[in-house]
Amino acid sequence: MARIKPECNQVESHPFFAQAELLATCRKLGVLLTAYSPLGSPGNPAQVGVSAEGLTVPKHPVLAAIGKAHGKSAAQVALAWNLARGVPTFPKSTNAARIAQNIELDGLALSDEEMQAIGQLDRGSSGRGCFGGPKVEREGRWVPRDLAHRDYPWNEDGSERA
Ligand SMILES: NC(=O)c1ccc[n+]([C@@H]2O[C@H](COP(=O)([O-])OP(=O)(O)OC[C@H]3O[C@@H](n4cnc5c(N)ncnc54)[C@H](OP(=O)(O)O)[C@@H]3O)[C@@H](O)[C@H]2O)c1
Repeated sequence: MARIKPECNQVESHPFFAQAELLATCRKLGVLLTAYSPLGSPGNPAQVGVSAEGLTVPKHPVLAAIGKAHGKSAAQVALAWNLARGVPTFPKSTNAARIAQNIELDGLALSDEEMQAIGQLDRGSSGRGCFGGPKVEREGRWVPRDLAHRDYPWNEDGSERA
């Protein structure tokens, strides 16, 4: 048990792994939840977080459609969604244009309907990238590398073992 309350709890969080329960608990305790891998780490097969259809955050059609309505990208929508929930995000990019894009979220105010539509993409721990198990890409969709293993999925709730 900690004697000194932490100011902040940084965890993986993006539309496919929303961490709603943890966010509610942190709010109750006065701890700021912050998000690493807020785009689901789309360039990293070892820890990419994917939708139920095996799509990454930047390629998800629901996020892309909402982005199109605002003149923004799917990635920007994912960042704006977390910010609207009070969760600061820490996206990483090696590309100057994308770094600028990830900062330029001004004016991207999502409606309640859009927030709800994004909320429906949450898959709990099945959507996590970090510790979610390695993936392989097949025909544009990311699937667990061990999908064909006789004991897969590993946990009773259908998620991969951390
Ligand atoms: N605290 C912790 O325990 C912890 C754990 C994991 C990660 N982190 C940190 O969190 C930060 C982000 O995590 P992450 O790198 O795993 O995942 P991320 O930020 O979710 O994803 C980074 C990937 O997204 C791409 N990308 C960035 N902006 C984009 C955009 N606007 N549109 C499309 N693609 C975009 C990047 O490619 P390009 O470079 O080609 O743009 C890169 O492949 C890192 O600094 C990392 O060190 C912290």
